[in-house]
Amino acid sequence: MVTINDNYLKLKAGYLFPEIARRVNAFVEANPDAKVIRLGIGDVTEPLPEACRTAMIRAVEEMGDRNGFKGYGPEQGYGWLREKIAQFDFQSRGCDIDASEIFISDGSKCDCGNILDIFGDTNTIAVTDPVYPVYVDTNVMAGHTGDVNDRGEYGGLVYLPISAENHFTASIPSEKVDLIYLCFPNNPTGATATREHLQAWVNYAKAHGSIIFFDAAYEAFITDPELPHSIYEIEGARDCAIEFRSFSKNAGFTGTRCALTVVPKTLMGKAADGSDVSLWQLWNRRQSTKFNGVSYVVQRGAEAVYSPDGQNQVQALVRFYMDNAQIIRNQLTAAGIQVYGGVNAPYVWVKTPHNLSSWDFFDKLLNTVNVVGTPGSGFGAAGEGYFRISAFNSRENVEEAMRRITEKFKV
Ligand code: MLT
Repeated sequence: MVTINDNYLKLKAGYLFPEIARRVNAFVEANPDAKVIRLGIGDVTEPLPEACRTAMIRAVEEMGDRNGFKGYGPEQGYGWLREKIAQFDFQSRGCDIDASEIFISDGSKCDCGNILDIFGDTNTIAVTDPVYPVYVDTNVMAGHTGDVNDRGEYGGLVYLPISAENHFTASIPSEKVDLIYLCFPNNPTGATATREHLQAWVNYAKAHGSIIFFDAAYEAFITDPELPHSIYEIEGARDCAIEFRSFSKNAGFTGTRCALTVVPKTLMGKAADGSDVSLWQLWNRRQSTKFNGVSYVVQRGAEAVYSPDGQNQVQALVRFYMDNAQIIRNQLTAAGIQVYGGVNAPYVWVKTPHNLSSWDFFDKLLNTVNVVGTPGSGFGAAGEGYFRISAFNSRENVEEAMRRITEKFKV
């Protein structure tokens, strides 16, 4: 009989979003006429930008021609895409990032988990609470934690509480941690980080030899010109940070799949014998062994994001979802419900009305007004009493959902 990875048995029953889908499906089966509006998982609803579609169609045509046909591409991604990313996303903001430090992938969720392959098993890991569950669950799977307690916290992880009191930005820990997960604009709270806050983290990481995993999947939703989009806008970050980015939310690629991870060549980790080892080399080795790259057609689609038309179309998409976020904020606030986030981020973090627990509010919303959101407690113990509403949906659905919620739950 084969043995299994017992760490999986430590995981809570279901990953948050499939668990929500399970409950919603059961409801829909029992109530087939209910018009359910889904503002739970942050999945985009608006069509792909025309510039991306045109580029992908052209790429498919090329693949149908003997001269244009492409087999395996470079595991790191095509140079023409990495050059555009380096120029538009990093160098234009003063970040010293070279195309060779960018790795194209099929998703930042995948990379956030996969990156653990190149790190040892004895690192101390810090996550915020609440937090995007992938950071925690992938560490559980990798055997980096103990068991889960009644509050849903895993032994061995350092939880950094975030709340309205600290503007949903964690205080720098007093103890030494090795790996730190930061996500700005934040999923789930919609909070943002100032330059000063990120500089404090970079200073901490450099002082302690730590590495920051910086998840910038929602950077395109920043409208405040003072806020940094990349950790590499912060002095010293090249020596202590890996950044994850995605085309999912800005260009609507959740179903198309394209993302990127930046591993600066200056980034080092320690081998067991105490010597410095390049993390870029390890990640490159890992990717070229376990990954065959993103399809040529999709990379051409992603490249089109950087064309003048692509830039305009992506900006229009971002504006569209941010207008949804504003509608959500305004309507809920007018109904006396306390909201956070949703200004430079597509998520609105809602204090549950009438002191309902997160899952009670979820069930009430689903059963009485047929609206789906995400219970804050699903993101960690400190998310209890909160609820996340995603701005990714059609205008009509967002307006209708807000009408239903405010009618029923006015405080
Ligand atoms: C979310 O709803 O938190 C997102 O869909 C997460 C993701 O992109 O994986």
